[in-house]
Amino acid sequence: MNKSDHPLRINIRFAISPNPLQENGITLPIINSYYHSKAQSAYDKAIKLREIGEIAWADLPYDSGISDLCIEYAKQIRNQFYHFVQVGIGGSALGAQAILEALVNEVQDTNLGLTYEILDNIDPYEMKKLLQRYDLNKTVFHIVTKSGSTPETMAQLFILFEFMKQKVGDQWRNHFYITTDPREGDLKKWAVEEQLPTMHIPPKVGGRFSVLTSVGLLAASVFQLNVYKLLNGAKWIEKFCWDSNIEKNVALKLAVLLHRFQKEIGIQQFVMMAYSNRLYRLCDWFRQLWAESLGKRFDENGNEIYTGSTPIQALGATDQHSQVQLYIEGPKDKLILFLSSPFEVDLLIPKSPFQFETSLKYLEKHYLGELLLTEMLATQIAFLEAGRPTLHIELNGHTPEAIGAFFYLWEMVTMFAGFLNHINPFDQPGVEAGKKNTAAMLGKVGMDEYHQKVKTLLELNPPLYIDE
Ligand code: PA5
Repeated sequence: MNKSDHPLRINIRFAISPNPLQENGITLPIINSYYHSKAQSAYDKAIKLREIGEIAWADLPYDSGISDLCIEYAKQIRNQFYHFVQVGIGGSALGAQAILEALVNEVQDTNLGLTYEILDNIDPYEMKKLLQRYDLNKTVFHIVTKSGSTPETMAQLFILFEFMKQKVGDQWRNHFYITTDPREGDLKKWAVEEQLPTMHIPPKVGGRFSVLTSVGLLAASVFQLNVYKLLNGAKWIEKFCWDSNIEKNVALKLAVLLHRFQKEIGIQQFVMMAYSNRLYRLCDWFRQLWAESLGKRFDENGNEIYTGSTPIQALGATDQHSQVQLYIEGPKDKLILFLSSPFEVDLLIPKSPFQFETSLKYLEKHYLGELLLTEMLATQIAFLEAGRPTLHIELNGHTPEAIGAFFYLWEMVTMFAGFLNHINPFDQPGVEAGKKNTAAMLGKVGMDEYHQKVKTLLELNPPLYIDE
């Protein structure tokens, strides 16, 4: 494959010194010098974990069993339903949403006749709207929760079950497809009892690393996206991400680059800025992966380190008129990761309708997509001139291969970034406290201690309004 045909490439030209304008760049020798110690041990650790099956997500591109089952279920779904609703939160929602937004081609496939919705929040207004708007006889729900006990997802399931039971009686079973852990959890138990069509997230695949299971692939298959191509994209980049010649290993190199920006240049925020609405949800997916994996209080030896860099998502050109002012002139603590793809459809900008002499004449005969991508390059140059580092993730199309490669690459980069920081990127202890407090406040049995704690804290901190 010619390099320009690669589904995805990372262009680091504006992040690297020496560059007369790039005072904040990092030199290639500095990056490479890392390879002889820390990067090697991060790589060795990853290899070991993969060998003992602890990071099963890394092998998902080769698991055709999952995609075959998704394709089979998707056929059943397409034969019966018009509306596909995925119910899940965090890692159980964002990947599917990113795939659908990027690849369902509404311009060309208008006759597919299917709609989708990702119900990832428990905003009652949204749920009510969905229940009112959709013909429930023609709606199918894909309930996704790895743990099988996430309160947000389960509360939605309880409501949907009740509604469907009333609406279609015993036929409700046809309307639910389940993705969960193969062995445990309340959802698994229920799915077995009710004999619901069930898909599994392998035990050693964490929520935010699960996009290449039925979490992302059922939705893709329902919309007749080529899931094998998606996996092929992941397989293609997998080779570069596990290259034992670590100076060539793209995931490790990128992780080292980002790590050094954070540690040595004081970059604390990574802004992923998509120049395509269809790619914007990939930034959302990245944001969760990065934040939940890398924001940690303790290192792997139990030392308190309070580490992490903040991922932010942005959309070009929209946010050029919003966030970019801050990024160009505010604190020098951000790295911008531009994300783009050539457009498969474009529109010619015709001659202006103005009868008078206009300064906008230069727009004529250019294309809208051309304008957008030119603005992106112009903005990169503006960042360069302002001494702000940027990277560019270049997809070679809104294609399943490019999206599959994107997912796999960032999972690998995130893992390596965690290892370089000596933290565990696969847990999320920080989100437990809020969950426990909620359960206690809603009266979960056995949570008296938490209930009392919350009550005391609220008594000690009564409402205090700024206007008082
Ligand atoms: O990455 C994670 O582990 C989380 O973001 C989970 O995906 C999220 O909390 C949902 O969990 P579950 O799939 O168990 O409902």
